[in-house]
Amino acid sequence: MPHRVTLVAGDGIGPEVAAAARAIVDATDVAIDWVEEAAGQPAVERCGDPLPLAVLESIRATGVALKGPVTTPIGGGYTSVNVRLRKALDLYASVRPVRSLPGIRTRYENVDLVIIRENTEGLYSGLEHEVVPGVVETLKVVTEHACRRIAEYAFMLARRDGRRKVSAAHKASIMKMTDGLFLESCRRIAAQNPDVAYEEVVIDDLCMQLALDPSPFDVILLENLYGDIVSDLASGLVGGLGMVPGANIGVAAAVFEAVHGSAPDIAGKNLANPIALVLSAALMLRHLGERDAAARVESAVAATLRDGKVRTRDLGGTAGTTDVRDAIIAHLRGARS
Ligand code: NAI
Repeated sequence: MPHRVTLVAGDGIGPEVAAAARAIVDATDVAIDWVEEAAGQPAVERCGDPLPLAVLESIRATGVALKGPVTTPIGGGYTSVNVRLRKALDLYASVRPVRSLPGIRTRYENVDLVIIRENTEGLYSGLEHEVVPGVVETLKVVTEHACRRIAEYAFMLARRDGRRKVSAAHKASIMKMTDGLFLESCRRIAAQNPDVAYEEVVIDDLCMQLALDPSPFDVILLENLYGDIVSDLASGLVGGLGMVPGANIGVAAAVFEAVHGSAPDIAGKNLANPIALVLSAALMLRHLGERDAAARVESAVAATLRDGKVRTRDLGGTAGTTDVRDAIIAHLRGARS
């Protein structure tokens, strides 16, 4: 039986990187029945809503999606499709493995972090209003339920993957109640998992320490906004936004997507690095139980990077998205023959 997977190409560079990731997954010979759904700008043009109900229904039915990035207008315009999607499907855990890749010269070698970000509340609750002209508020909503389950997820992942430590990042000195509740919940779950080391680190100190030396860290657990920012910072440690995959995990569905956005500056020019979404697709294959195929995709990406011949502009090369796709597929096929 083929796996049914919803494919949301998104907009900007989304369709280019999604097409590459799909072709690479298909080249593993794992049978996938792709259900294509439009979100973002193409959906606005088609039906006026950047996140049509059909997308949510499809992901609820398949339980798994591979998603390209979607643009969010700045200031006004519609609410973020990503925030809506994560809330509607209760994709509470964002998981972003940040690993050094072969042949990519960066400040540090052997970076191996997992960033776990609470994905449904905090400052991304979407509750904003004008109090009086010139004064506006955004509400930071934190619930014990969401804090507990993201902490449980972080410790579960640490045990499952043989990781040594969970670091909870916070600013409870200033946001005593919201970040305080987050920390209290983390401490409670840490006490139930004495075999995994636990520490707390102030968010600004974490950023400085990551820039100075990421090696003391392992699993980093953060609320929504901090997690968003630290994910981009961490991607800079391993070669940039084009390299870091991600998964949004819920109880009933999982959506796999890169950390990067729709990169309008390079959209439609065959310049986008597809590796982040290809590695997200590998995470998806593992989630589907296709461990061997996932490992083969990751090895083919590593082999392509090690060769160093086919690289997109963000990695100092001149290759196009489709060249990288073809090189990864050639390595996949070469490894099999
Ligand atoms: P961005 O990640 O799209 O781009 C930041 C910089 O990184 C740009 O210079 C871009 O060219 C480069 N870049 C990003 N991905 C790349 C790739 N795969 N290959 C080569 N270069 C790459 O971030 P930005 O500009 O802040 O956001 C653009 C739009 O994307 C916004 O509307 C934002 O809301 C949206 N966004 C969507 C996300 C999603 O759908 N999950 C995540 C983050 C942002």
